[in-house]
Parts: sequence; structure tokens; C-alpha cells
Amino acid sequence: MKAIVYEAYGPPEVLHVKDVDTPAPGRDEILIRVQATTVTSGDCRVRSLTVPRGFGLVSRLALGVSKPKQPILGTELAGVVEAVGSDVRKFKAGDEVFAFTDTRMGCSVEYKCMPEDGAVEKRPPNLSLEESAALSFGGTTVLSFFRKGRLQSGERVLVNGASGGVGTAAVQLARHFGAEVTGVCSSPNVELVRSLGARHVIDYTTDDFTRNGEHYDVIIDTAGTAPYSRCKESLTRQGRLLLVLAGLPDMLLSPWARMTSGRSVVAGPASVRTEDIRFLAELAAEGVFTPVIDRRYPFAQIVEAHRYVDSGRKRGNVIITWGNYEV
Ligand SMILES: NC(=O)c1ccc[n+]([C@@H]2O[C@H](COP(=O)([O-])OP(=O)(O)OC[C@H]3O[C@@H](n4cnc5c(N)ncnc54)[C@H](OP(=O)(O)O)[C@@H]3O)[C@@H](O)[C@H]2O)c1
Repeated sequence: MKAIVYEAYGPPEVLHVKDVDTPAPGRDEILIRVQATTVTSGDCRVRSLTVPRGFGLVSRLALGVSKPKQPILGTELAGVVEAVGSDVRKFKAGDEVFAFTDTRMGCSVEYKCMPEDGAVEKRPPNLSLEESAALSFGGTTVLSFFRKGRLQSGERVLVNGASGGVGTAAVQLARHFGAEVTGVCSSPNVELVRSLGARHVIDYTTDDFTRNGEHYDVIIDTAGTAPYSRCKESLTRQGRLLLVLAGLPDMLLSPWARMTSGRSVVAGPASVRTEDIRFLAELAAEGVFTPVIDRRYPFAQIVEAHRYVDSGRKRGNVIITWGNYEV
């Protein structure tokens, strides 16, 4: 089968298509013929080893000191079950599924095995396979941060970086949890963010949310432009700042922020639960959460896809299509 691999850290050009062995499912595994994967901001960080301040050494130790331990990127996929192991009960050949491998990656392949009790679910009937491929990365990140930030119904939430993969999920999920949502994005994305359920949208190219006199119970920053020092006065007295993109110094801020102001700062890697995937599938089926698809690339154009995601300007998600699959 074909896989997209990288054997050295670097720019998008380190990626290439290679023939590798097709996996065979174990007794409790399913074999998925992949039809869509994604390129996320996370894939680009891991490919280039561009990580937030203070995480250089730990990232190299985790990902591979001189070269990547896992040469196949990709955390999300959607496809059709090709075969199942002898103990599998939940899925059968022909089922359309989506899956999330999180930090184990390895989704940029034609065939992928997943344990039947892993982070794999049937495609929500109202989403295309491409859309369901993009359900997990932003969705699970947001669920994790909202859990840690104890988001409550009725609270005022500001999403900084509301038009990206994580931001578009944050706007939709915050609204679902009963929050009044303000999205912050650039001018071309104002209507998109409004359409996802933001009651207020602030164009950061003309307005600064830290100077509008408003207060928010929760601020979630996906862009790395809303550190505590900048937005503490925009938080309510018990407000929580959720830093999806943060360096080590920001992570160490929380005790100090709580001691001096009663506010808290949540940072660090998302903690994903297997049941989050099922929950996101249910929300999608109810029409509450729909991944935003920006561009689609065939797998042979993986370098172009990574170049685009590297720009930091994608709207929602970028899809990679495999084989002859058409939307
Ligand atoms: N902690 C974790 O576990 C975790 C998990 C997932 C992702 N992340 C990190 O979170 C970050 C965001 O991920 P993503 O997938 O959402 O990235 P993305 O899809 O590339 O989106 C980034 C967004 O940032 C916006 N942006 C750029 N400059 C801005 C500014 N000055 N003010 C407000 N928004 C601005 C862009 O919107 P405009 O074009 O409208 O400016 C873009 O939509 C990445 O750095 C990723 O590595 C961390």
C-alpha cells in the first residue's frame, strides 16, 4: 500500500509517497481502507519540529532525537471497513467509519488497522466521509480544554483564533454547551465565524478585544496572541484562560494567576478520551457540530497541502483524499 512518510524533520518537501506493507487486522481489530485524512497544525509541528517555547528537548525525546520514530503523520482518517478480526462485533466489512490516532499518528496511509474498542466510530449519516475525517483533532482538543476550564452554560466565552481547525470547533461546541460566544478572527473570516454560532465577532485587524471593556468567563486562545499578561483584565474575577497554544512559561503561570487574582490559566497538551469520539459523532449526527472544510488535496499533493497549513491561515480543516474517491 501507499503511505506518506517523512524520514527527517524539515519543510514540507521532506514528505514523500512510499510503498509499505499493508497491515493485517488482529483478532480484535478492523482494517480500514482509508478514503480521507487531514493535515492539521499538529502534523506540521511534528514534521518540522517547530514547538512552543520550552518544549524543544521533550518533543525530540518523545518524537525521535535525530529522526522521527513514527515516519507516518496524520491523526485523523475516514474510510470503509475492509475486513474485521475474528473477535470483532461492533463493525462489519462495508461500514463507513472515522478514527483518531492522536499522538500515535500513522493515518496518512491507504489501509489502517484500529482496535474495535479504540477511537473509531461509524460515520455520522449526515456528514460526508471527508467531513467525518475532520471531526476529531479540533473537537477533542476543545472538549479537553472546556473540561479543564469547567465551562458552564450561560457563561461568556471568547474564542481567539476562531476560524482555524480548533477555533471553528470551539465556537460550535461552546455554543452547544450554552455559552454566549464571541469569536476573534481576521476580516475574511468574520461571516464564517458568525455562521458557526458566534453572537459577536471581532475582527482583530481593526479591533482589540482587550480594549473593548468587555469581560469573559472563559477565553480560549488558539492563535498564541492572547497570553495572560495581555488579556487578564478581560477575564471576569473567576475567569479562566485556556491556552491551546502555549509555551512552558505560560503553563507555569496558573498557580501565580490564582494566588494573585482568583483567575486561572489552563495550558498543556489536550487529554483526549476515547468516548470523546463517540460524543463528537453524536453531536455531528444532531447537526450541532459540523467540521469546516477549507481545501482538499489528493495524496500526491501532500507537499502543497503542508505548505498551505504551514501558512497558519487555513479556515477549519484541510483534507487529503486517497485513491479514486470522489466527494
Ligand atoms: N494544546 C494542544 O494539545 C493542542 C491541540 C491542538 C492544536 N494545538 C495548537 O493550537 C494552535 C491552533 O491550531 P489550529 O489547528 O486551530 O491552527 P490553524 O487551523 O492553523 O488556525 C490558526 C488560526 O489562527 C488565526 N490567527 C492568526 N493570527 C491571529 C491573531 N493575531 N488573532 C486571532 N487569530 C489569529 C488564523 O485565523 P485568521 O486567518 O482569521 O487570522 C487561523 O485560523 C496550533 O498552534 C496548534 O499547534 C494545541
